[in-house]
Amino acid sequence: MGKIHKVTFTDTGKSYDIAQGESIVTSSNSKGASLPFGCMQGMCTTCVAKIIHGDFEYLEEPEPNTLTEDEIKNNHVLLCITTPLTDLTVSPCPE
Ligand code: FES
Repeated sequence: MGKIHKVTFTDTGKSYDIAQGESIVTSSNSKGASLPFGCMQGMCTTCVAKIIHGDFEYLEEPEPNTLTEDEIKNNHVLLCITTPLTDLTVSPCPE
């Protein structure tokens, strides 16, 4: 288990303690969240969300052409393959 970080969702206001190295979707949902997901492999974009604050890394590279350059610039990520490097604030279902 990696270092534990607090991941807070702006829509529900809820926070989950997630170990660095774990998928935010898998870990949050196992703790009672209901984040949307599909492929869980960085392909379908069902899990897209915006990182408002904090640092993250990808567990694996997203498939090419899943997120647009604008989305990437705006800190949109595929949460299923994202893990926290610091405490994070996340806005699900960004505009
Ligand atoms: S669940 Fe498909 S890209 Fe994340």
